[in-house]
Amino acid sequence: MRDDGRLWYGGDYNPEQWPAEVWRQDVELMRRARVTLVTVGVFAWSRLEPEPGRYTLDWLDEVLDLLHDAGIRVALATPTASPPPWFSLAHPDALPVTADGVRLHHGSRDTYCAAAPAYRAAARRITEVLADRYAHHPALALWHVHNEYGTTCHCPHAEVAFRRWLADRHGDLDTLNDAWTTSFWSQHYTDWAQIGTPRATQYLHNPGHLLDFRRFWSDTLLAAYTDQRDVLRAANPAVPVTTNYVLGDWVPVDHARWAREVDLVAIDHYPSAVDLGAEEQTALAADLARGWARHGAPGRAPDWLLMETAPNLIYAAGRMHTKEPGRMLRQSVAHVARGSRGALFFQWRAPRGGAERFHSALVPHAGADSRVYREAVRLGQALDRLAEVRGRVAARVALAWDAASGWALQHPGLPAERLNHHEEVAAAHRALWHAGLACDVAVPGDPLDGYPLLVVPALYLADEATAGWVRDHVHGGGHALVTYLSGVADAHARIHLDGYPGALRDVLGVRVEEFHPLGDDERVALTDGGTGTVWAETVGLTGARTVTGYAGGVLAGQPAVTRHTYGAGVAWYVSTRPDDATYRRLLTEAATQAGVAPTCPDAPAGVEAVRRGGDDGSWLFLLNHTDRPQTVPASGVDLLTDATVTDAVHLPAGGVAVLREPTG
Ligand code: GAL
Repeated sequence: MRDDGRLWYGGDYNPEQWPAEVWRQDVELMRRARVTLVTVGVFAWSRLEPEPGRYTLDWLDEVLDLLHDAGIRVALATPTASPPPWFSLAHPDALPVTADGVRLHHGSRDTYCAAAPAYRAAARRITEVLADRYAHHPALALWHVHNEYGTTCHCPHAEVAFRRWLADRHGDLDTLNDAWTTSFWSQHYTDWAQIGTPRATQYLHNPGHLLDFRRFWSDTLLAAYTDQRDVLRAANPAVPVTTNYVLGDWVPVDHARWAREVDLVAIDHYPSAVDLGAEEQTALAADLARGWARHGAPGRAPDWLLMETAPNLIYAAGRMHTKEPGRMLRQSVAHVARGSRGALFFQWRAPRGGAERFHSALVPHAGADSRVYREAVRLGQALDRLAEVRGRVAARVALAWDAASGWALQHPGLPAERLNHHEEVAAAHRALWHAGLACDVAVPGDPLDGYPLLVVPALYLADEATAGWVRDHVHGGGHALVTYLSGVADAHARIHLDGYPGALRDVLGVRVEEFHPLGDDERVALTDGGTGTVWAETVGLTGARTVTGYAGGVLAGQPAVTRHTYGAGVAWYVSTRPDDATYRRLLTEAATQAGVAPTCPDAPAGVEAVRRGGDDGSWLFLLNHTDRPQTVPASGVDLLTDATVTDAVHLPAGGVAVLREPTG
């Protein structure tokens, strides 16, 4: 796919918003910035098909030819995330309905129900038209299906499809009634027709119902994607097909499962923190993408792509923050360090109007005579110099992530409102990141060879297979660090009995009888001087020994962190959310005991180090996220400057180095 050997650099390009003379300027500016790939047509449906069945593609022919002549490749999008107004008027039944029963109207984007037959048929038709015309266009590098699948619906079509999906999953109503515990609150179903989508109701929903609804939408949206993918593949099997994943904990699709169906995992990443938090989030997003990519078709390289990020803006706390000079480059290189095939942005040129008129772009409203465009040119030069980097990211810690646990921890009726799988994964990842410990994200069941340490944050749902995954790893000599709320419920969100964390009690050597969720500002002192937040619980020892105790509150004197020797390995249990520094120390200790060292043990705080490599060589990425110059012991040739480094790299404030390390 990186057919000319260069990294992909560019982003969403919307020529449909501009007259033809601007296209020519765009292409010239792209050439100057060494742009290699642009995504065209993501929301262009009404320009491509202004009336049902009437297609106007001449403008796209011209744009693709212009790009091709300039040596710029194209990720051609299908425009199905934004059906035109004529479509909603012709098919009002395909407009989405909210849980409150409100039917939404066009006037924004994503106004469709992906379970509505008319929508699916129209999406297939426009895809066929694009496939017929462009599947062999020389500029075409990649198909980009739709945009950020995630829209759900409660309309009658969705309801029928949901029932069909439930019948497939559960087989018969007795099984469903049992899985959902419908004996509670008299919810027993005697006919499939009695089951609807979880619409607005009087009080709390049934958790099994909610969980299956999330699974149903993940599968239904995936079917909408594969409909289009199959059309595109049939037209030219040589062109890879993907769709851009949206990140965030509301996302109703299971990205790891989706990875089997895309030829390349692609993510959109928009950090929501302004300070170092943005860098922590960037590292997590990239590690998630790489972890999902491992689920690709057998034999396929676990490659992935940063499909969208904002060039010069972080949206946080209700406003847009401008990135300081150099940050766009540093964040882009951070993605490449963690395995991305390049850095693509939303968007190339800032629009004049429309809902996202103030969203940042490589060519901002100020035009090419601007700091951002000049930085875009420098970024193009830098990415050009990184083309030789390849191979896997060196990581010996596996971090568990599970879409369904994320969904289940969003249910109402839990012991506290602020429980969140994604946040627990992020907290563990942050602690690893600050400790300099590289990790790969793993989904329950993934092979754990080569990962002496497995970290399991709030893996709430654990059936026997998932529990066995952790147990076998430890029994066979691995180490695991498991946090509170793991192993509490089964795959249908029913609680494992006889003490928490039911499914993992044996391997952890603990038995928890009671939870003590903490208030928003509540902290509980720990005996090692740290503090716990969010959660605490009464931990009984059934084989484990106490590492750290609670030092205050109702649990004073009782275990908070425990360690259990199980089989040939070790299992730690952490019954609260430690503060960041304590968490970092704890993971460093667990890693040391497991024989895992940081990527660059002497890197100063605030300098991120990532190593990639394989048979072709080894590359060390060093990213200085501080506002001071930093020195890191290392050697090699810096690809960005050609400087040879013999003992230490001197990084300017906010600076980056990528060393080709000496071999042998
Ligand atoms: C993305 C989306 C883009 C644009 C961008 C703005 O999630 O795919 O189309 O809306 O956000 O931040």
